[in-house]
This record gives sequence, C-alpha cells and structure tokens, in this order.
Amino acid sequence: MADSAVPVISTGLQNIYITESKICRVDGENGKLYYRGYSIDTIARNSNYEEVAYLLIYGNLPKRQELEAFRQQLKNEREIPDSIVKLIKESANKADPMDVLRTAVSYLSIYDNETKDQSQESNIRKSIRLISKISSIVAAIGRIRDGFDYVHPDKSLGHTENFLYMLKGRRPAKEELVPVEMMYILQAEHSSNASTFSTIVTGSTLSDIYSAVTSGIATLKGPLHGGADEEALRMMYAIGKPENTEKYIEEALAGKQKIMGFGHRVYKAYDPRARIIKDYLLTLQNHASEEVRNLTKIALIAEKMMIDKLGKSHGIWPNVDFFAGPVYRSADIKLEMFTPMFAASRIAGWSAHMLEYWKDNKLIRPLEYYTGQLDLQYIPIDKR
Ligand code: SDX
Repeated sequence: MADSAVPVISTGLQNIYITESKICRVDGENGKLYYRGYSIDTIARNSNYEEVAYLLIYGNLPKRQELEAFRQQLKNEREIPDSIVKLIKESANKADPMDVLRTAVSYLSIYDNETKDQSQESNIRKSIRLISKISSIVAAIGRIRDGFDYVHPDKSLGHTENFLYMLKGRRPAKEELVPVEMMYILQAEHSSNASTFSTIVTGSTLSDIYSAVTSGIATLKGPLHGGADEEALRMMYAIGKPENTEKYIEEALAGKQKIMGFGHRVYKAYDPRARIIKDYLLTLQNHASEEVRNLTKIALIAEKMMIDKLGKSHGIWPNVDFFAGPVYRSADIKLEMFTPMFAASRIAGWSAHMLEYWKDNKLIRPLEYYTGQLDLQYIPIDKR
C-alpha cells in the first residue's frame, strides 16, 4: 500500500480473523456455540468441567482411563505455595480480587521450574497446573476475604467440588455444586474473545504461559468483558424491587447507558449460554431464597424490556453474564468472586488456545494509521 493511501481500519478488530482454530465455533447469527464440535447444549447436559477441560486441551473427549488420569493430575497440582497464601492474606481485603488473582498467578510462575521449556508436553503440564491452581487461588482469595483461614485442598473431591470446599470450608451441598459446575462449563471457552486474544498476543512473543495467562486475567477484569456479570448483579441490586425495573431501564437507556449483561460483539442473537443459565434459574424458583426470587423477577422484566427495545431491531440480547449473578447467588457466592471464578473456568480455554497457536506461532503485530504531525522542529525546554 502506498504511504498516502488511507487503509481500512477495523476499530476493536471487529470482523478480523487472526488465525484458524479447531477449538471453538461461535455462530453469532444463529446463537450457537460449539466446543471442539460439540454443541454447548450437549456439553452442558452431559459433561463436567474436568472432561470439558480435557476436550479443550487435547481436542477429543477422553476415554474413562484418560479422564481418570487427567483428574488425578489436576488433584496432584491443587496445593499452592505458602507464599501465595501469604500474598493473598496481605492483599485480599485491600484489593479487588481480580488484582489479587492476577498478581498471584504471575507470582506462581517463580515456583515452576519449567517456565522456559516451550515444548508442547511441558506446556500441557503447565496448563494442567494452572487449571488446577487457579481454582485453588480463587477459593483462597474468597475464603481469606471473608476472614477465614486458608483451607487445603481435598484430593478425594472433584474439581469444582474441591473449589467450593476450599471456598466455604465444608463440602458443598448439591444446590451449590450444580450451578457452579454449570458456570464453569459454560465459561470455559469462547473463541478469540478479548482475554483469549490478549493471552495469544503475549504468547505470540514466545513469552511463557504464565505471562500469557496473566495478560488474560488482566483483560478479563474489565466490565465490558468478564466483569459484566458483577455489574449486571449490581444493577439488579440498585433496581431493588421488580416494580422499579421498568423505570430504571427506561432511564438508563435514555441516558445512553449500556445495560450490563446485554449485547455482544459476535452474537446478534440470544447467547446460548445465557439461555441455559436462565433455564436453570427458572427451575430453582420454588425452593430459591427470597433474594434469588427477587433478582430473578427483576432479571426477567429487564430481559423482556431489552429484547422488545433492542433485541431484533439492534441485535442486543442477553449474554452469558446477565443471569449469572442470580445463579451464583443461589449457591451463596459473593458478587466479587464472579469474575475470578470466570477466570478459574476460562483458564482451560486460554491454555487450549495457547497450545494451538504455538504449533504455528506468528508474532502478532498489527498496524496503526498515523494521523499526527511529522518533522516538527524541536524547541529547547526553556523556549517553549
Ligand atoms: C463477555 O467476546 C466474547 O466472547 C466475550 C464473552 C466470553 O465468553 O468471552 O462472551 C464474555 O465479555 C460478554 C460481554 C459482557 N459485556 C457486557 O455485558 C457489557 C455490556 N455490553 C456492551 O458494552 C457491548 O454489547 C459489548 C462491549 C459487549 C460489545 O459491544 P461492541 O460490539 O463494541 O458494540 P458497541 O459498544 O459499539 O455498541 C453498538 C451499539 C451502540 O449503539 P449505537 O451507538 O450504535 O446507537 O449497540 C449499543 C451501543 O450503545 N449497545 C448497547 C449495549 N451494548 C451495545 N446498548 C445498551 N446496552 C447494551 N448492553
């Protein structure tokens, strides 16, 4: 391209393909999602997080023995260094849990003597380590924020059951485990979303997986991305009562505010994950707490209004984050833990993408179209 020609600029890299991938297909037009070719409905109905993580990392569903071996590897990696527990104790009550998580994961790298080994085998081992330890770190952050002591992992428990055990200091009830397992499955992977992209950008320099995942965590934190689940619930709390919902949404939209948990860069239809989460929420109503029932009523009114106003006309539908809050509350999970738990699940997707991208690595280095001045005269500081 000649220097004078104005290039096509795709702000936000909208509609730009960065690579080929066999991990995840997001069909935004039809509201469909596939992990390694399996529809998200099939996965959510039949699978579990450990199997999903295996599927994402290795590309196929495991045989029974393979899954058992994978589970065992996860169990063996659950413990976190004392210094990380100390770091969490020093920071959990002062800082945002995502800041603590980002720092802890970065710190974790100093305990891994394989960080410089870029072989696929080593990167798989480190991925499994990260999948396992990030859940432990997130549980420790939640537990220590609540003023309790760190709980060591229990090797007899499954991945999410152990997470809840470490968070709550007791084995979870089924009503706590089922929604958390579902959220872990649904948030495990989503193609080249912002956090996965930043993971890949960092990894594309042949930096190590800890650095790449630290970038992913930093990116996930933002309210336009993973942080939206917390903001959506804050909005529901601010609305307070179902009868206030209409006025609140009307005013927010009139003030050009974005309604958190709605809209998506790729989906111009109902996010299939949001539908699964909503359906689950509706099954809870007879035995849910008053708080969850109230939140559900608010969420349903807001959902209907948004769909009527912006659904078909503007392609703005509920996304994965909208109904997540009431579901997490049904398991008595605190709002500040939603995004760290998103990270504890998405680590499977981040790792899978890194492993795939590194097979045919290419440094990511896009261009900017410079519109500033050139050849300015330098004026000494006391003459400006
Ligand atoms: C996730 O990419 C992924 O895969 C992410 C994710 C994953 O699993 O990794 O699915 C997880 O991050 C879900 C998204 C969570 N974020 C939110 O819920 C925040 C609220 N949503 C929006 O801010 C927005 O929809 C984005 C950021 C998600 C996507 O927006 P785009 O593609 O950048 O579009 P945009 O912000 O430029 O909006 C286009 C139009 C605007 O109106 P106009 O100026 O054209 O008139 O749509 C409007 C926006 O104002 N709009 C909304 C809206 N989202 C978009 N209006 C009201 N409420 C909203 N939520």
